[in-house]
Amino acid sequence: DHENTEYRNILTRAENRVGYIALNRPEALNALNRALVGELVTAARAFDDDPGIGAIVVTGSEKAFAAGADIKEMADQSYVDMFLDDPFARFGEFGRLRTPVIAAVAGYALGGGCELAMMCDIILAADTAVFGQPEINLGVIPGIGGTQRLPRAIGAYKAAELVLTGRTMAADEAERAGLVSRIVPAAELLAEATRVGETIAAKSLPVVYAAKAALRAAQETTLAQGLASEKQAFTSAFALEDQTEGMAAFRDKRTPQFRHR
Ligand code: CAA
Repeated sequence: DHENTEYRNILTRAENRVGYIALNRPEALNALNRALVGELVTAARAFDDDPGIGAIVVTGSEKAFAAGADIKEMADQSYVDMFLDDPFARFGEFGRLRTPVIAAVAGYALGGGCELAMMCDIILAADTAVFGQPEINLGVIPGIGGTQRLPRAIGAYKAAELVLTGRTMAADEAERAGLVSRIVPAAELLAEATRVGETIAAKSLPVVYAAKAALRAAQETTLAQGLASEKQAFTSAFALEDQTEGMAAFRDKRTPQFRHR
């Protein structure tokens, strides 16, 4: 059931093939300290390793998805400290998850919090969500992908304005900019994330993995490489029972029964 009482900074559970991770450091608005990052990535990998899980939902609290990396933990670090012991190293594993991850964002998603949302595949926002990369105000720059993923998500010039001024944007601006796929009333955020998660988790798992990998290639490779890997993955789907079932179900006008194989 993936409930694990040893976690101190997150809450986890699983239901209907969806794994849930709630960041739970309310005293620091879910600031991403080492302990939280470690637990988050460990929990996400446990879901990823479980073929009974087809989607992962990451949430925060009503007030904050995450207000960034933990400034108090970083304040006294030197260049050598950060260089030798990168507190965010484990996010590399998060970026390599096979399972689609939905960020359900209410309240602040700032700095590392915005970057965490952008490491997910889908961002759903409550009408209370606030996004931004305010690191410049602290004398640093984004360090977990913000300068790379934000321009890809919202365009070079709008991203530059946000990163260089530290200005934040509310949910409606983030949606117009393409960072957020949908805005829902705050009270409905988790229910909507659950609907999206359960919808994905009902598809064929190997096909969902292939679709996520192909979408990732669009962000991380050239068009030629991405098209080649898409072609390979599309063709490979025809080796699966679920392709036979999906197309037979269409012909027979019935709902497909995917068996994740
Ligand atoms: N790190 C550590 N603690 C944080 C934090 C953070 N990023 N954000 C908030 N907190 C703490 C506050 O210090 C405060 O703790 P105390 O009660 O002990 O003082 C508690 O959480 C509540 O926060 P506030 O009292 O500040 O709440 P507010 O409602 O007045 O303001 C806020 C909310 C505007 C989000 C404000 O907390 C804020 O500006 N936070 C910092 C945002 C930020 O700069 N994020 C970028 C971090 S750097 C980064 O992420 C680097 C990277 O890319 C790797």
